[in-house]
Amino acid sequence: MKSTTVNISETNKSYNIYVGSDFIHDRIEYYIKENAYFVVDAKVASLYRNIIPQNSSNVFIFQANEKTKTLSSVEKILLFLKNNGALRDSTLVAIGGGITGDTAAFAASIYMRGIKLVQVPTTLLSMVDSSVGGKTGVNLQGIKNNVGSFYQPSEVLIDSYFLNSLSNKEYLNGLAEAIKIAAVQDEEFFYFIDDNSQNILARKKCSMENLILKSCMLKAHVVEQDEKESGIRKLLNFGHTAAHGIESDSNYKIHHGFAVAIGMVYESEYALKHGHTDEKTYNAIKGLLHRLNYPVTYTPKNKDIMLAAVAKDKKAGKNGISIAVAGRNMQGVIINNVKPKEIIDLF
Ligand SMILES: NC(=O)c1ccc[n+]([C@@H]2O[C@H](COP(=O)([O-])OP(=O)(O)OC[C@H]3O[C@@H](n4cnc5c(N)ncnc54)[C@H](O)[C@@H]3O)[C@@H](O)[C@H]2O)c1
Repeated sequence: MKSTTVNISETNKSYNIYVGSDFIHDRIEYYIKENAYFVVDAKVASLYRNIIPQNSSNVFIFQANEKTKTLSSVEKILLFLKNNGALRDSTLVAIGGGITGDTAAFAASIYMRGIKLVQVPTTLLSMVDSSVGGKTGVNLQGIKNNVGSFYQPSEVLIDSYFLNSLSNKEYLNGLAEAIKIAAVQDEEFFYFIDDNSQNILARKKCSMENLILKSCMLKAHVVEQDEKESGIRKLLNFGHTAAHGIESDSNYKIHHGFAVAIGMVYESEYALKHGHTDEKTYNAIKGLLHRLNYPVTYTPKNKDIMLAAVAKDKKAGKNGISIAVAGRNMQGVIINNVKPKEIIDLF
């Protein structure tokens, strides 16, 4: 098993992220003995009956989807904790994808003003992205992640065993975020993904675990410097501005990671046009995404819908929006004062 440590300088807090295979059973056993509380994605609970506690009063089975990522689910988790005797020093273990992780973590952050939280991500997206960094939250009247907190876990346990049951679509959904992390921070890692793309697609354990660990290390590096996203953490939005437009225009028929992949291509095109990156970087990003079977072009149905979604981006200011792009040698660049229409006109 490999591990990395996250040190949050602002709060002087640190925690470990463990990445390996077939170790989760023992850690779950440990937390059962510790009388911990579990919030478990319903699908994961049914797929992994051998390792996930099922009928205990300490287990809350969560039907996780964007419609249940709500304050009402948070309240149910809080009541589950209260009614089953959780105290200030109790631990909540969140087992599932990003929806379970975000929702349970938010509940952990406010129950008795915060109890210990352990993240056990089970999708590739949650392994490489959402379980690291301490952003918690739920949707409010359909607005994504409108309510939440910054709350770091006490540890993150990543077992690649869970990935065996993940659909291809969900796997690629997470892989896009790992490519994004590489493209704005680490050229060597980007070309590691490129060189190992077939092994990664085939879910070869060693390549997958290296991919996950490196993604976590790079995300941790950003979060350590900028927990609350006032600076460098904004780099992690590469591809996401255009993706908001694509998701909205497609009425969310295009899955997030696929929209991010397309978004990375169009935002790179913007960066190239305005001298923030070079042909080599642009071609490397587009080429890798294409080889991994992501769509790299998009034909809008209604550009006004796209424009509204891009302009509404939470990174919008008086003079336009800020976008993050992959600059030369895969060094992230923030471009400020971009007019949303300039992005939409690329499509
Ligand atoms: N906190 C952050 O920093 C952060 C970062 C990125 C995304 N997010 C959030 O993450 C969420 C998306 O996360 P996600 O993509 O993991 O979605 P998800 O939690 O909905 O999981 C996707 C699907 O996979 C299923 N699943 C989970 N583990 C499985 C497994 N091992 N085998 C088979 N099926 C499995 C789930 O039941 C679900 O149907 C979004 O709500 C997004 O806002 C948060």
